[in-house]
Amino acid sequence: MAYRDLRDYINTLEKRGELVRIKTPVDPQLEITEIADRMVKKGGPALLFEQVKGSPFPLVINLFATPERMKLALEVEDLEKIGEKILEIIEPELPTSFMEKLKALPRLKKMADFIPKMVKSGPCKEVIIPEEEVNLLELPIMKCWPLDGGRFITLPLVFTKDPETGARNCGMYRMQVFDGKTTGMHWHIHKDGARHYLKAERMGQTLEVAVALGCDPATIYAATAPLPPDMDEMLFAGFLRKAPVEMVKCETVDLEVPAQAEFILEGYVKPGERRLEGPFGDHTGYYSMEDMYPVFHVTCITRRKNPIYPSTIVGRPPMEDCFIGKATERIFLPLIRKQLPEIVDMNLPIEGVFHNLAIVSIDKHYPGHAKKVINALWGMGQMMFTKIIVVVDKWVNVHDWSEVIWRLGNNVDPKRDVIITEGPVDVLNHASPIPNYGGKMGIDATNKWQEEGFDRKWPPDIEMSQEIKGLVDKRWKEYGL
Ligand SMILES: Cc1cc2nc3c(=O)[nH]c(=O)nc-3n(C[C@H](O)[C@H](O)[C@H](O)COP(=O)(O)O)c2cc1C
Repeated sequence: MAYRDLRDYINTLEKRGELVRIKTPVDPQLEITEIADRMVKKGGPALLFEQVKGSPFPLVINLFATPERMKLALEVEDLEKIGEKILEIIEPELPTSFMEKLKALPRLKKMADFIPKMVKSGPCKEVIIPEEEVNLLELPIMKCWPLDGGRFITLPLVFTKDPETGARNCGMYRMQVFDGKTTGMHWHIHKDGARHYLKAERMGQTLEVAVALGCDPATIYAATAPLPPDMDEMLFAGFLRKAPVEMVKCETVDLEVPAQAEFILEGYVKPGERRLEGPFGDHTGYYSMEDMYPVFHVTCITRRKNPIYPSTIVGRPPMEDCFIGKATERIFLPLIRKQLPEIVDMNLPIEGVFHNLAIVSIDKHYPGHAKKVINALWGMGQMMFTKIIVVVDKWVNVHDWSEVIWRLGNNVDPKRDVIITEGPVDVLNHASPIPNYGGKMGIDATNKWQEEGFDRKWPPDIEMSQEIKGLVDKRWKEYGL
């Protein structure tokens, strides 16, 4: 049964001993970060702070902060099964390209049960606060790290519509609170929210925005998923939770939002308006420094009577977002394999913060195959940000660092096996000389073949014969070891 809302998930976590309530007053400025960070690092439970200084509302954090909790959130044992299910749905029906199939999902009969369902009202409308009374400073919004530029909403679901086509997008983009009625809108240039905004700006239009805080866990996750543009995250959320997301019309903007949310912030971003945002202690483990971002003006807040404010912190890995990212790695692997069937497995190590390093194993069939895979991945959705891609043979366990480094060091001739190129990089990549554009490296760590110009003999791995292993097993006691 799908979680109805955030509190349904919280109750489940609590029943399973996966959530602890903290009754003593705590400060949302830095103190909660230190507590939540310590708990993430030791694989501890989610935390519900009942008394947050300066706010009448409780705050919940670490909802997804272990691999087990991530599976509980999406109600699956094996995350890869989700990707395989998507393939089952899109495969037989349409003989078009893979991306076209994915975009066509909403039209498929099998998806009909998951299409967002419009409802007249919902718990998110229990209290309606008009613009004059809007005061974001009442919310228990955290200042996460000492050098942060202020307080940041860190787990928001940001809804916009394409100003031309009306297609909906929902993405997770942090929001710095500037004052009681405005925040920053930190959608990176490559993301769909920014695409909508830039389009509206070119048309000289204001872009309406609505932000949902606190939904059922599948809906929260969907906002972070790297879906193709114009694929509705709410349909994807319905698919994940196996029940449609109930949507309700906003009060002051022409957008729909999840009816079961804890809080909804309605408002707009104006063309041409930017303000300095940041610094912010980011998921790379470094601060992302100040930059100019659009300003979100809040025109209305609607909320439950007793809402729970959801939060997360990012920082030096491992942090909660690592488990969200790892879920994405598993869910989307079958879809990537559909495009590149030679891919056996993929590891985006959490220390590589998802856009710095990918280790991929392939079933190599032809000369240059590894380099083809490297180039193909750089052309695939948000994989385009990957700074370093390492390709190994199919028998290498990509999740075993020790094996990967051993193979990499031995198999690579840097002059022959390394591709150095340049292209788009993640906004958070601080190493590139200019923002958003920088160097990339692909490393072919597979065994080299004669057909690849390798004329020497490739040495075999050292392994004992089965016969001698069996003999030693049998005689083990005799050795007295
Ligand atoms: C906790 C968390 C915070 C994030 N913050 C941002 C952010 O501030 N800006 C951004 O562009 N992406 C951020 N992301 C990544 C996006 O949510 C992700 O790339 C998503 O796929 C974007 O959706 P879109 O493709 O619809 O734009 C964050 C992800 C997580 C899990």
